[in-house]
Amino acid sequence: MAGVIIVGAQWGDEGKGKVVDIYTDEADYIVRYAGGPNAGHTLVVDGQKCVVRLVPSGILRRDAICVLGQGTVVDPKVLVGELETLEAKGLAPRERMRVAERAHVILSYHILVDGLREATASAIGTTKRGVGPCYEDKAARRGIRLRDFRSRADLTARVAKAIEAWSPVIVALGGQVPSVEAVVDDAWAAGQSLLPLLADTAALTEVALRDRKRVLFEGAQGTLLDVDHGTYPFVTSSSAIAGGACTGVGIGPSRIDSVVGLAKAYCTRVGGGPFPTELEGPVADRIRTVGAEFGSVTGRPRRVGWVDLPALRYAVRLNGLDSIALTKLDVLAGLETIRACVAYDTPEGRTRDFPADDLASCTPVYADFPGFSQDVSNARALSELPKEALDFVRFVEIEVGCPLSIVSVGPGRDQTIVLSHPLRDA
Ligand code: GDP
Ligand code: IMO
Ligand code: MG
Repeated sequence: MAGVIIVGAQWGDEGKGKVVDIYTDEADYIVRYAGGPNAGHTLVVDGQKCVVRLVPSGILRRDAICVLGQGTVVDPKVLVGELETLEAKGLAPRERMRVAERAHVILSYHILVDGLREATASAIGTTKRGVGPCYEDKAARRGIRLRDFRSRADLTARVAKAIEAWSPVIVALGGQVPSVEAVVDDAWAAGQSLLPLLADTAALTEVALRDRKRVLFEGAQGTLLDVDHGTYPFVTSSSAIAGGACTGVGIGPSRIDSVVGLAKAYCTRVGGGPFPTELEGPVADRIRTVGAEFGSVTGRPRRVGWVDLPALRYAVRLNGLDSIALTKLDVLAGLETIRACVAYDTPEGRTRDFPADDLASCTPVYADFPGFSQDVSNARALSELPKEALDFVRFVEIEVGCPLSIVSVGPGRDQTIVLSHPLRDA
């Protein structure tokens, strides 16, 4: 049995797509457990870029089964569009996709409400993909699930109830309440075309694990965006942390062998919310440009800052990380000084912990490192890194107290220093 979770250890966009793609070489199943089309996971193969939002990042490897668990929220039109794009590339993704019949569905009114709210003063900078309102419906027990597309009459009745509940909200936000028929029509064809892919994905995943298949659980978003443990209320609406793989897929915690946390050698955040190590000015512009830090879903410029080690320690604890894959080291090349936040000064004194709810009153304490000028994107072993880069990487590892399994030095599959392989070693 080998169940390995890949989880974002920061605010998302840590490079999960790339690392999942690398590990998929050894995996039989890739299972998404949370989030929806708010995710944007980038794969770069032979210089060709491919961004997936709902389809798991294993899809480019020709034999892995790709699963969307029931903790995810699915926009049928987005999923069908992605499958068509992959088909146009000569792949046959439908043969390898299984989608939880109990996954909740994002419909047009979710996207409408998300967009209307984001136009008000209480905007938090969501991706406007309807993800939050869809999870709200799920918790309110009036959500629509993919299995509901089996009967148009049932679906219509459920949509009518949901629209009744959302109408006052839409009106108060100045929007126009859509007709039930228009909502059903909009999603019907896409929903129908997904029916052949529907499955009991919890059972399927458990059987795979029992059959000693290698299962990779692909996280979306990141620890600091988790609805329970992130920088609330500037978070997403699902359980992004590793524990979310068990609830989101429907497997027991004893099935997990290893958890890999993904972290950039610096930090980014897209959307609003506290970001204590945030940088502005020429260094920020340089990191943003060299690192191509623009949202893969929305194209928004990502906010950038120095690596936050208290936040990483928090992620190690919350996810029970066995190792860290440190990405985008190459982006720091050419900076005169590299900084790492090692602690926070708080009104109560200095702490090495991450004060998730009180960041506004905290000041980061930094350790400074001399930069390195060499291009490191061709390094394939730690010994090929310049001393300054290696010192920085080792410092992060020791300060956080978690071994590194990967150091990523470029977006390509091969631009990777692999130190250990949780699926191979499990
Ligand atoms: P995800 O959401 O965690 O999958 O990450 P995204 O795909 O949204 O953003 C990560 C971006 O960094 C993508 O454009 C990747 O191609 C790119 N990337 C991943 N690893 C590296 C790396 O080590 N170096 C560089 N320069 N780019 C990387
Ligand atoms: P991946 O999987 C980065 C952020 C949004 C916003 C907040 C809530 O690519 O790492 P939502 O649309 O979920 O209601 O937005 O969460 N966010 C992400 N930021 N990467 C993501 O996914 C994100 N998914 C959501 O920017 O701040
Ligand atoms: Mg992303």
